[in-house]
Amino acid sequence: MSGELSPIDKAKFVAAKKAAEYVEDGMRVGLGTGSTAAWLVRCLGEMVRDEGLRIKGVPTSTRTAQLAREVGIQVVSLDEAKWLDLTIDGADEFDGDLNLIKGGGGALLQEKIVATASDQMVVIADVGKEVETLGAFPLPVEVIPFGWQTTQALIEETLVSIDVLGRASTLRMNGDSPFVTDEGNHILDLHLNRIGDARQLAMVLNQMPGVVENGLFIDICDAVVVGYGDGRVEVRDINAGTIEEAMLDFAETDNLFTDLVD
Ligand code: A5P
Repeated sequence: MSGELSPIDKAKFVAAKKAAEYVEDGMRVGLGTGSTAAWLVRCLGEMVRDEGLRIKGVPTSTRTAQLAREVGIQVVSLDEAKWLDLTIDGADEFDGDLNLIKGGGGALLQEKIVATASDQMVVIADVGKEVETLGAFPLPVEVIPFGWQTTQALIEETLVSIDVLGRASTLRMNGDSPFVTDEGNHILDLHLNRIGDARQLAMVLNQMPGVVENGLFIDICDAVVVGYGDGRVEVRDINAGTIEEAMLDFAETDNLFTDLVD
C-alpha cells in the first residue's frame, strides 16, 4: 500500500507514526493541524480502535476536530482539558534550536495556545522542513479584520529596523475572498526570506495593536520527529540532547492507508 504514497507523504506518515509512540493511555493530547498532523490523528484513531487507547484530544482547528471525531478519538475543548500532557503538530519550518514557523494551514493561533498549554510539544515533519535559518517560508501573522491594511502598513514599516531580508506581505486569500481563520481573523504572509532574530521579531509583531498572533514558535517545541521518504525517522530531543534513529515498517500499516487515506 505504501506504493500509493509519494515520498513526501511517506515521510510525513512515518514521522506521525513514530510520534504516536509518545501517546500513553489516559493522556490529554493536543492535536495539530495540517497534512502531517492528519496522519497523526489517523494513527491515534487506529490505536483507539485496535488497542483500546483512551485519550482526550484537544484539536487545534475545526478540520482537525472533525477528523478526530471521524476516527473515534474523544474530543474535548482546551478549557475542559485545562492542561495537556502532550501536543503533537506539524510545522512549516524548524531550525536547529527547534524554533518553528507555523500557520501555513492558517491555524497558528489555536496551535500556539494549545502547544503552550502542554507539558511537551513534539513536532512531526518531513526532512524538507528543516532549515538553517527561519524565513524562507512566508511567516503567517494573524490580524484582526478591522483596519488590516493599516496593520499591514505598520508591520512593513516596522520591518525596516528588523534583521530580515524582505518586507513584502500579502493577504492570504481563499479564492476571491480573504482567508478567514477559525477565530474570524485574516492572515498576512510576510515574505521575509531570512529572519535574523526570530525571538525579537516575534515580540515586536505581537506588540502591534492589530496583530493577534504570529507564526513563530520560540522555545515551545521540545522534540522533532523527522521523517524520510524511505521510512527512516529521527527523533531529536532538544532537552535531552539526543538523536534517536529508527526505520518504520509500512507493511504493518496497510489498514491505515486503505481505510483512511484522503
Ligand atoms: C497549520 O496552521 C500549520 O501550522 C501546519 O502545522 C503546518 O502548515 C504544517 O502543515 P503540513 O503538515 O501540511 O505541511
